[in-house]
Amino acid sequence: FQRFPALQNLAGRNVMITAGPTREPLDPVRYISNHSSGKMGFAIAKAASAAGANVTLVAGPVSLSTPANCSRIDVVTADDMLSACEKLTPSTDIFISTAAVADYKASTIADNKIKKTGDELTLTFIKNPDILAKISGRPDRPFCVGFAAESQHVEDYARSKLVKKKLDMIAANDITVDGLGFNSDKNALHVIWKDGDKRFPATSKNELAEQLVALIAERFALSNK
Ligand code: CTP
Ligand code: CA
Repeated sequence: FQRFPALQNLAGRNVMITAGPTREPLDPVRYISNHSSGKMGFAIAKAASAAGANVTLVAGPVSLSTPANCSRIDVVTADDMLSACEKLTPSTDIFISTAAVADYKASTIADNKIKKTGDELTLTFIKNPDILAKISGRPDRPFCVGFAAESQHVEDYARSKLVKKKLDMIAANDITVDGLGFNSDKNALHVIWKDGDKRFPATSKNELAEQLVALIAERFALSNK
């Protein structure tokens, strides 16, 4: 706590963190998904837990071990992730949404393996629920922190998500910057809230998670939640 006194605000608080990709089945053997290692979410879980928070990770398919003292619920699809988050929300103080949720799922999941027939294949997708927007729209909403991985107009898109999803904070990163984000161990973030912002230059995801969690703790304490 010497480095970040604000972390004391997290002691005994319940923190829910989504992490990793979701995986949407197409047939019994295939799925669509996103590139996402889950590393940022797991690093945030570790940092929040070290500060004394009760952390629950709601994790898509990732190959990471659960940080010490964190609870973990494993899910596959966006629908599963939403149900798990809805159950946890009444006892959640802070929700940090790092998951790379698939925006769409197959409109129907084929019962049998799709056979290779013509030269083209057309599949129809329907929108998945927006987990973060659903949780932040609830009357019992926790303090909500979103992420925005963008390839252009990073700040503009992040600001519009902050407003549209009714978030308390959003952490944006530019996925076009070499060697950062996704499967990398490093990342840089531009964190934005209603009346302020803070830039965290590129560093290890563990270091970045500590800095970000300290900032979340500071803003959360000011939010009177
Ligand atoms: N998110 C979510 N559920 C979804 C889609 C996104 O909870 N179905 C969350 C992500 O975890 C992230 C934030 O919303 O914290 C922004 O995700 P992003 O993919 O950047 O935004 P979208 O609203 O999906 O818009 P787009 O992909 O078109 O940029
Ligand atoms: Ca998306």
